[in-house]
This record gives sequence, structure tokens and C-alpha cells, in this order.
Amino acid sequence: MTARATSLRTFQQRLLAWYRVHQRRLPWRETRDPYKILVSEIMLQQTQVERVTPKYREFLRRYPTLQALARARAAELRRVWYPLGYNVRPLRLRRIARSVLRDHDGRIPDSYDGLIAMDGIGRYTAGAVLSFAFERDAPILDTNVARLLARYFGVRGDLKVARRQQRLWQLAEAVIPEGQGYTINQAMMDFGAAVCTARAPRCPSCALRRACRSFPLTDGTTQAPPLRRRRRGH
Ligand code: ADE
Repeated sequence: MTARATSLRTFQQRLLAWYRVHQRRLPWRETRDPYKILVSEIMLQQTQVERVTPKYREFLRRYPTLQALARARAAELRRVWYPLGYNVRPLRLRRIARSVLRDHDGRIPDSYDGLIAMDGIGRYTAGAVLSFAFERDAPILDTNVARLLARYFGVRGDLKVARRQQRLWQLAEAVIPEGQGYTINQAMMDFGAAVCTARAPRCPSCALRRACRSFPLTDGTTQAPPLRRRRRGH
């Protein structure tokens, strides 16, 4: 096996072993309903898990279906969402709900092309819905995942943003063991949140440290510049 293939295998095996022990119980991991997954992912785009959890439940009690959301009044929607901030997000979600009802027979598309064509769904959200709702081997890349992949595989921080993004998306795809897109994607999120954190990563006790290209990170920072936000959707 090449060194790269070994490092990939190690990443997959150690990460999945870590996740079996340390995974968080989160409400959106107890469903495969694409509508609920979509709500959770839009909420999680700019808000931390602890703040999203109660809101996710409240929002779904108030708008349990795509139909209920599509009918929602903007003022009330904003009020329900309000503490999460970034008030364009609920309206974006309602727009998606309306377009699913109008153009897709009320079913959230289960293809990348179908998802990405919708206003407000970017590459990240399309990958999240495909892997978390439909259990496809679709890559995801958010800031946690990007940081973990960049550090472990040693993606240089001085690459141009587009080149770096391309490299990271390739890695996000390459790390998925066949049939395990759901699990490895959730695992990368938890690992990025708990171990491979932006500041003061827990390198000394990290399960991936022996094969990590950045170990040990002594300055406690990411080596790479933060990912740029896309303007429309994520
Ligand atoms: N952030 C975005 N999506 C997430 C998920 N499914 N679990 C935990 N954190 C997340």
C-alpha cells in the first residue's frame, strides 16, 4: 500500500473507532427525514450545536412538515427563529419548502443536481442532506471538517483559496469508506468540535496524531486561513 493509502486507512479506522465511543447524541441523528435534516443543517450553518438543539425541537413542533413551513407567515417565522440570529435563514428555508412543493411533488430531491439547483442550497448543504437523510456517500466540507482534513493531510495554508477548496473537497470525498458516508461525516464533525478544535486542539491525546501531518500543533492555531463564506447558501 502507498503511504497515502495507509494514511487514509488510518484516518478512517481511527476516526470511526473514536466516534463509536465519543459520538454525541443529537436529535437530528435520530431521524432520516430530509425535511428535518434540512432544518437542522440550515440552523447549524452559523449557530453552535448547544444553541440549535432546543430551537430545532421548537421549530419542528411549530412547523412539523414542509407544508406547514411553506404556509408560514414571515413575521412569525422570524419570531420563532429570532434568537438564532441571521434572519434570512428561515426565509431561505421557507423558499426551499415552497420550491419543493411546487417543483418536486413535495419531496426533497435525493440527487446532488436536484438539491444544488435550489436557491439557498449550496455544496455543503446538498452533501449534508444526501449523506444524513439519504445515507449516500456524499462529501461535506464545513469549517470543522476542513480544519481536520487540512491538518491531518497537510494541505498547505498558502494555496489560493479556490485551489485549497478543491483539494479539501477531493479529500472529503476520498475519506468516505464505501457505504459509510453518514457515519464518517458525522464523525468528522464531532472530532473537529471536540478534539481537532480551532484553538488549543487536543493534540497530545488525539487518536489520529501518529499519522497527522501537523502533529504536534504547538501554537494552538489552524495553519490555514479560514474558509471564505459563500454568499448564497453553504
Ligand atoms: N454541524 C453541522 N451539521 C452537524 C451535524 N449533523 N452534527 C453536528 N454538528 C453539525
